[in-house]
Amino acid sequence: MTARPPLALVTGANRGLGREVCLQLRDRGHRVILTARDVERGQAAARELGVEFHQLDVSDDASVERLVADLRRVHPEGLDVVVANAGVALDGFNAEVAATTVDTNYFGVLRIVEAVLPLLNPGAHLVVVSSGVGQRDLLGPQLRPRFDLERLKIAELSALMRQFVADVRSGHHRDAGWPSTAYGTSKIGTTALAHVLTRELAGDPRKISVVAVCPGWVRTDMGGPNGERDVASGAASILAGLDVPPSEPHRFFRDGAPANW
Ligand SMILES: NC(=O)c1ccc[n+]([C@@H]2O[C@H](COP(=O)([O-])OP(=O)(O)OC[C@H]3O[C@@H](n4cnc5c(N)ncnc54)[C@H](OP(=O)(O)O)[C@@H]3O)[C@@H](O)[C@H]2O)c1
Repeated sequence: MTARPPLALVTGANRGLGREVCLQLRDRGHRVILTARDVERGQAAARELGVEFHQLDVSDDASVERLVADLRRVHPEGLDVVVANAGVALDGFNAEVAATTVDTNYFGVLRIVEAVLPLLNPGAHLVVVSSGVGQRDLLGPQLRPRFDLERLKIAELSALMRQFVADVRSGHHRDAGWPSTAYGTSKIGTTALAHVLTRELAGDPRKISVVAVCPGWVRTDMGGPNGERDVASGAASILAGLDVPPSEPHRFFRDGAPANW
C-alpha cells in the first residue's frame, strides 16, 4: 500500500495569500483542505483549485468545533500541516478595531492551534502567518519584560492581549506602554505565541514544529497595489516555514531566514 500524501489545512484561504498557499501546497502534492468563513466564496476557491473545502470562521468557537468534529470523522489519519493564515488589518484605531483585530489575528490563531493540536501527526508543522510589522520595540519599557519568551505562558500572553484591548477601551493604552496599532500589537502576540508554543511543546513526542512567518509586503487586498511582492512570492515565504528545523529556538522567519521582531 502506498502512503497517502500529507494532509494540509489552511485558514482564511478564499483569497489572497491563503488561497495561493493552498495552490502551492496542492502543487507540492499535498492533500489540501481550504477553509474560509464564507461558504460560497470558499467553495468557489476550492473548486477552482480542485481541493477540499470546509467552513471555518476563526473568531467563532462553534465553527472551530464543527471543523474538528468533521476532521475526526472524515480524516482520522490526522493532519500534517496547518497554516494559520486568516487575518484582518482594519482601518482606524479604537476599541472596536482593537477587539476585532486581536480576536482574529491572535485569538483566531490560538483557537485553531489548540483545536487541531490533538489531530496533528508526528513531525507535523504549524505555520502561523504573522508580520514583521509586529516589532517588540513598539512596546513601552514597562511592558517589554512581560513579553519574556523564556518564561511567558500562553495564558499570560492571552491576558496581555486582552489587556491591550481593555486599555484602548479605557483610553489608557499609551500610559500602559502599548502602541496605537491594533494590527502591530496583534502580530507581536502572534509571533510571541509561536515561540511560547515551541517551548511548551518541547516535550511532545510528536516533535511538532511551530513557526511564525512573515510573507513580506504583498499585493493582496490587505497589502494593497503598492506591495513589494506578488502573491506567489509571499506564499513561498510562508511555506519556507516548513523547512525550518524544529530545534532552532528563533521562531520568526521571512523567506526561510530568521527575521527580527
Ligand atoms: N499582504 C501583506 O502585505 C501581508 C504582510 C504581512 C502579513 N500578512 C498576513 O498574511 C495573512 C493573509 O493576508 P492577505 O494579504 O492574504 O489578506 P487578505 O487578502 O485581506 O485575506 C485575508 C483572508 O483572511 C480571511 N479572514 C479574515 N477574518 C477571518 C475569520 N474570522 N475567519 C476566517 N477567515 C478570516 C479573509 O476572509 P474574507 O474574504 O471572508 O474576509 C481572507 O480570506 C494575514 O494574516 C496577514 O496579516 C499580510
